[in-house]
Amino acid sequence: MSLNVVVIGTGYVGLTTGVVLAFLGNKVTCVDVDREKLARLRRGETPIHEPYLPELQALAAPNLEYTDDYHQAIPTADVIFIAVGTPPLADGNPNLQYLEAAARSIGENLGDKPVVIVNKSTLPIGSGNWVDAIIRDFAGGGDKEVYVASNPEFLREGSALQDALYPDRIVVGSEDPKALRTLEMLYLPLVEQHFDAPDFLPRPAGLGPTPFVATDLASAELIKYAANAFLSVKISFINEIAALSEKVGADITQIARGIGLDARIGSRGLQAGIGWGGSCFGKDTAALLATALDYRLHMPIVKAARDINDLQRERVIEKLLGELKILKGKTIGLLGIAFKPNTDDIRDAPALVIARRLKEYGARVLLHDPVAMPNAQRLHPDLGQYQCCAAEVFSGADAVVLVTEWAEYNDLPFETLVAKMRRPIIVDGRNALSPETLIKAGYRYLGMGRSF
Ligand code: UDX
Repeated sequence: MSLNVVVIGTGYVGLTTGVVLAFLGNKVTCVDVDREKLARLRRGETPIHEPYLPELQALAAPNLEYTDDYHQAIPTADVIFIAVGTPPLADGNPNLQYLEAAARSIGENLGDKPVVIVNKSTLPIGSGNWVDAIIRDFAGGGDKEVYVASNPEFLREGSALQDALYPDRIVVGSEDPKALRTLEMLYLPLVEQHFDAPDFLPRPAGLGPTPFVATDLASAELIKYAANAFLSVKISFINEIAALSEKVGADITQIARGIGLDARIGSRGLQAGIGWGGSCFGKDTAALLATALDYRLHMPIVKAARDINDLQRERVIEKLLGELKILKGKTIGLLGIAFKPNTDDIRDAPALVIARRLKEYGARVLLHDPVAMPNAQRLHPDLGQYQCCAAEVFSGADAVVLVTEWAEYNDLPFETLVAKMRRPIIVDGRNALSPETLIKAGYRYLGMGRSF
């Protein structure tokens, strides 16, 4: 069954949601205030770098429209997703001004048919009720059939389409059974996995039905924070063990395998390294702590995960200081700027902190990223000297740091690049390169949490 869907906000979450629901056969209107972005989307361009998004967007094109006109989009909608940005404020709380504006515009343009409003952005607990109240205020009172739900998004940048088509679970929270029923219907093709999988994103072998988790509103809102906090804690935990592992001469990659095979622990999210970045973990753990504080509650585990994550960037500097003693006047090459591979997103990217710290020490910083360089140059023109290709960050460098584990960096001709360096030191911030190959090629190799 096809529904009229409106998605407000065309960032990572909004655009992926809109494209996937259109691909599944719904009529989707994506609303954004950014006209330039809308013009690009109408031309079939994709404003973000996300694997397979352009391909799926092209397949779904007949069911997709883009507009900045709420009046055109809202009155006929069956389901409206709010997926606007909620960037962090200085106190850790998210900035809700875009959410408020979206809710107001929905209220002002509401038609007469029943509509389910879905919070897709990660929002503080209680936001569902808040959005409901704003919409009703601006709808001019009366008993409009508006049902609010929370439907947290768990997609990872770089594999967003895979995560959206083949999710581990779908969580929907609402106080209203009608909202839950409508969303279960909307997601039925994903729950039952009965859509024709696109050739470029085949269904994983043996994939069964997707669990549909229906909850109350507050639980769904908290599930999102709890999931991201848990993943953050897991990464910081392995990084904490990595620090000890390095001291005692053990290897964290072997330890991660050894503990990850325990089904209670699980092997994913145990990759030690420079720590997490991106738009979610830092923002959501800060918001969780801020919410807890509202209730005079302390969350020392989440707080520690954040502290450890900050330390991980500093560990890279410590390793360089240990090898080079003085960083002033030295040249350090950074491979990778994006917060993770397969994205051009540089929000909270470790490379930004590491480059700034190196510059504070008086080092010269050479930078490269296969995809995120235009973003970095635009937003941080003074971060360092941007290089046209990865090989150039080795030129005259006293050390090179692998910051983002882009697969193509594994194929660099390390055997010849070593001759371009002033000192052949490589800090593998993601334990992604082959120590054996690099040592054989004449490098001094330093991993994270390993005895190399
Ligand atoms: C995350 C959540 O995974 C997703 O469910 C949520 O909706 C949004 O936030 P994302 O930030 O896109 O997604 O990427 P993710 O793959 O989770 O990685 C986050 C950061 O942690 C990256 O910087 C990555 O390099 C780092 N990381 C991840 C590790 O350092 N070690 C790991 O084992 C896994």
